[in-house]
Amino acid sequence: MATKSLLIGLGMAFALALVGPSAFSMGTKTVATSSALADISRGQHVFNRCRACHNLTDSAKTRLGPNLNNIFGRIAGSAKNFKYSKALQEAEFPWTEQRLDVWLTKPASYLPGNKMQFAGVRNAQDRKDLIAYLRSATLEIE
Ligand code: HEC
Repeated sequence: MATKSLLIGLGMAFALALVGPSAFSMGTKTVATSSALADISRGQHVFNRCRACHNLTDSAKTRLGPNLNNIFGRIAGSAKNFKYSKALQEAEFPWTEQRLDVWLTKPASYLPGNKMQFAGVRNAQDRKDLIAYLRSATLEIE
């Protein structure tokens, strides 16, 4: 009898392992953006490409690039304590989702002469996920 219930238990564990991946992915945080869904946790992973140069909070140490706290709605080239290129200094627009998407596709063509040494994030879904992550991780209420 004990052996039988052990076998049933093992069988159930196996069945759970089989449905596991889809059940777990239901728990992934998603947010709606302009068209398709964006995945914040995937975006956090894409941010590994930016991490060496950017911190996300105002109080963090400035790396090679400016800190990105409150980047949505922030005027381009306006982080204090950062010496921007002329290209960024002269840009006067606030960063929006759309502008970040174009910038991150190919920084060198969006604002020629800027000094962000980064080729770009080619994959559109990667950019969408990254931007969703940035939205969730850069909002600082003072
Ligand atoms: C090798 C370092 C480096 C990497 C990698 C990098 N950046 Fe940058 N980034 C910079 C520098 C330097 C600037 C300032 C450019 C200038 O002044 O011309 C900048 C500027 C920016 C700005 C404009 C900020 C402002 O205040 O106007 C944004 C937004 C940005 N980066 C986002 C990203 C994201 C997101 C990634 C990853 C996909 C990334 N960067 C990867 C170095 C980097």
